[in-house]
Amino acid sequence: MFPITRMRRLRKNSKIRDIVREVKLNKEDLIYPIYFKEDLKNGEKEEIMTMPREYRYSLDAGIEFAKDLENKGLKSIIVFGIPNEDKKDEIASPSRLKDGIVQKAIAKLKSETDLVVISDVCLCQYTSHGHCGLINENKECDDNLEVLNDESLDYLAQMALSHAEAGVDIVAPSDMMDGRVGVIREVLDENNFKNIGIMSYSVKYASSFYEPFRDAACSCPCEGDRKSYQMDPANIKEAIRECELDIGEGADFLMVKPALAFLDIIKLVDENFNLPLVAYSVSGEYSMIMASIASGYLTEDAILESLLSIKRAGANLIITNFAANILDKL
Ligand code: PBG
Ligand code: ZN
Repeated sequence: MFPITRMRRLRKNSKIRDIVREVKLNKEDLIYPIYFKEDLKNGEKEEIMTMPREYRYSLDAGIEFAKDLENKGLKSIIVFGIPNEDKKDEIASPSRLKDGIVQKAIAKLKSETDLVVISDVCLCQYTSHGHCGLINENKECDDNLEVLNDESLDYLAQMALSHAEAGVDIVAPSDMMDGRVGVIREVLDENNFKNIGIMSYSVKYASSFYEPFRDAACSCPCEGDRKSYQMDPANIKEAIRECELDIGEGADFLMVKPALAFLDIIKLVDENFNLPLVAYSVSGEYSMIMASIASGYLTEDAILESLLSIKRAGANLIITNFAANILDKL
């Protein structure tokens, strides 16, 4: 009790604060999401209007940027592709091509860097309708539109397989179709890729915080929303069921997404499961803080503080567009 106990003794100066700090953010904890756009010319990059200081990259410009980040201490990267608009179709054909934009980016990252290369597996950037699976008319569904589960699985597996053939280390399915982890595991194993890991977007909520990404990746659903496959933000127990199923199907990592508005869920998943836990601090979290910094409402310290909260909640790894910005400070 005061005056014998004085909490401020351990806060006296930065050296003392450094040695008593309980949770630390390390460079190894960060995964940087990078967007490769097929129709950009060599050397070009394009600023993303909804995400200040973030870009869509041509193949070689993206590789150069990845190398810069690697030199600053980045260990892993997650790759997204944006195919030419006129190639998109109902069945996401450009998602599984040998010479697709992501497949090329994976191969080049593997040959020119030592980064751990992870790839997002989902059809929405590649379908003309912008949904994460195939679609069908169905009067019983909202907007008379059904996103088909079982029919989409093989396409997702073929996409994952094409990433494996390009040399990816880990595939990360983000589509939220039931059973996709199992089908991907099976196809990878059948094709001798038994050591390629699966980082499942296990607990992915239907969130407004993805809006800037959908603009960045040109993956907005033309009609309807994603509520029939992504989770309701009001649900807690459902997160446990999703994780149990993914573990049963062979997931190597679990993920909670978004992060900041779901810190309770990160903690819950961490307390219940022993797999490495990834939190995806999504585009909206990035843009919200960046916009506030630009307006002078917040200082740059808000970045580290928010990432630290995600680590404190129990995440081992954080996918974040801030990785590029924060590496120098860790
Ligand atoms: C594709 C996908 C999305 C994100 C990652 N993969 C968007 C979505 O589901 O609509 C979101 C990433 C972000 O907002 O930073 N399914
Ligand atoms: Zn998707």
